[in-house]
This record gives sequence, C-alpha cells and structure tokens, in this order.
Amino acid sequence: MKTIFSGIQPSGTLTIGNYLGAMKHFVELQDDHDCFFCIVNQHAITVPQDKAALKQQTRSLAALYLAVGIDPDKSTLFIQSEVPAHAQLAWMLQCTSYIGELERMTQFKDKSAGKEGVSAGLLTYPPLMAADILLYKTDIVPVGEDQKQHLELTRNLAERFNSKFNEIFTVPEVRIPKVGARIMSLTEPEKKMSKSAENQKSFISMLDDENTITKKIKSAVTDSEGTVRYDKENKPGVANLLSIYSIFSGETIENLEKKYEGKGYGEFKSDLAEVVASALKPIQDRYHELINSKELDDILDQGAEKANRRAFKTLVKAERAMGLERKRR
Ligand code: TYM
Repeated sequence: MKTIFSGIQPSGTLTIGNYLGAMKHFVELQDDHDCFFCIVNQHAITVPQDKAALKQQTRSLAALYLAVGIDPDKSTLFIQSEVPAHAQLAWMLQCTSYIGELERMTQFKDKSAGKEGVSAGLLTYPPLMAADILLYKTDIVPVGEDQKQHLELTRNLAERFNSKFNEIFTVPEVRIPKVGARIMSLTEPEKKMSKSAENQKSFISMLDDENTITKKIKSAVTDSEGTVRYDKENKPGVANLLSIYSIFSGETIENLEKKYEGKGYGEFKSDLAEVVASALKPIQDRYHELINSKELDDILDQGAEKANRRAFKTLVKAERAMGLERKRR
C-alpha cells in the first residue's frame, strides 16, 4: 500500500480553499493508502503567532480534519511538535540545503518582501517540510498548487541525501487536483484565497455560518459583463465562483453556464451561497461535537504514538548515514 503524507498549518481557521485544494482529497485517498495527516504547528511559528490563538487553532484544525471525514481507524492524525523527529531531521536537511535555493522559494520571497525581522525559520521552512514528508517514506503528497515548488525542493533534497550518504529516502510524488488546486480570493480574484489574509471578506472559513457565507459571496468581486461564463483570464472572479460551485455541487462548469444563461449574478450568487452553506453544515455540526471532546485528545495521542514509532525508524537510519550515531540502536 502506498504511503500518503500531507500537512496543514494551524495559522487561522481553514478556508474552503484548503478544503477543496487539499483536505477533500485526503478523505478520498484514505481508503486505499497508508495515510499520515499532520497539523504543522512548527511551520506556523515561522511567522509571529499569538500563543493562545495558536493552541486553539491547532485543536480546531484537528477537529476539522475529523469532521470532514478523516477516519482515525484508517489514517494517522497528529500534531507536528508532538513528534520530535520532524525537527531533528529538519536540522539535518537544513545542513544539506543551500541558502540560495531556499531564498529562491516564491513563498519565502512573498512572505519576507518588505518586512523587517524576518525569522530564519521562514527561510528554512522547506527543509522542515521535507523532513515531514521523508520521515514516513511517503510515496504521494496531495497538496494545492501553491506547494508545488516546495515539493520539487523536497525531491531534490531526498535525491541529494540519498546520493551523498545512503539510499534512505523515498523520493515522493506530488499530487495536485485537476480542479480546485487554486481557489482564489473573493475580493481580489488574482490572488489565492488564504486563511491568514487580513480581509475577512476575501475568504470563506469552514466555520462561517450561512448568513456570513451569503454576505461574503454577495460581495465577491465579479465584473460588469453580467454573464455567468468561465473565462479565467478576463473574468477571474466569476471563474473562481464557478469552480467553487462546480466542486461543491458536483455539477460540471458547462452545465452551470447553461443553467445561468440569461440570468444575472444575483441569482447565481444566492444559489452558490446555499450550495456552500449546505455542504459545510454537516461538517460544522460534527466539528462542534468534537472540539471539546476527550475523543479528540485520544485520537491525537494515538496518532502521535504511531507517527513517533514510524518517524523514529527513518530518523535513526538517516542519522546513521550521516555519522550521527555512537553505537547501533
Ligand atoms: P497551508 O497550511 O498553507 O495549506 C494547506 C493545504 O491547502 C492548500 N491550499 C489551497 N488549495 C487551493 N486553493 C487555495 N487557495 C489554497 N490555499 C491553500 C495548500 O496547497 C495545502 O495543500 N507548507 C504547507 C504545509 C505543510 C505540508 C507539509 C504540506 C507542511 N509540511 C508536508 C504537505 C506535506 C502549507 O503551508 O500549507
């Protein structure tokens, strides 16, 4: 059975972008793969976080993973900081990464541009991500489009380590969904939807209520043409809404275009709001049952135990390969 690994940062409440680009696919993959899903809280601290909020968002993300359908009997769900091998291997991979290749990462450039006091962790974020993946001998990494470059670097780091030291790591493949890999901001449709965006109207959170969803979709930027038609280049706002509608409803974009022929954006938007709200409702109900439950802690305890066992094995091999071992363990 092939191994899957993916992670999400607890850096805000998850958006429908994270759901459609990543989480939804995790659920589909868990039936026939050995899956590890991680709440990457150590990645989140590469930029300043409020400690109480980080703690709460970490728990919240764990509850959301389960609420969307991650089944702890099929998948291992755990928190990154509870498996020390991630930071340990990350250090070793930092020592085999070049500053130049880390500085070339688009996400680093975007997040550091014009900022003072940029943390060293923001630069060395990709070797930590590589460690996450490589510790589990991962075959496939399902992610949204924005993580593609980090995955290419992970593959390079794995190949470099294997050829320099010993063939320890599996070189993972990236899997990006055909639709939904890049859900755009509702207010600036040329930018991706982001959970850490300041403008609350730019994203739909997985926990937004129907009223909020309706308001946000009604105020989503469109264009003056007034026809519901998929044209990513000239009508990025409408194209984005059509993608969201299509994935949540299961209807093709062509069918949706036909359905709204001769109708304005008003009806399209209010139907879309209903589709999104009713898809999120059962997830939110389950989330509220889980968030303060002991069940959630038990699942995370078991997940950490299983992940620690698996990760430690690879860590020991990698340490041995690099000469970081006094005697055979
Ligand atoms: P993060 O937390 O930013 O996002 C989590 C997942 O959601 C996807 N995503 C999107 N997909 C479609 N449209 C969007 N607007 C959108 N925004 C985010 C992301 O591509 C991602 O799959 N570095 C990673 C976390 C990470 C990781 C890993 C992922 C750490 N270690 C190991 C995979 C494997 C990140 O910041 O994702």
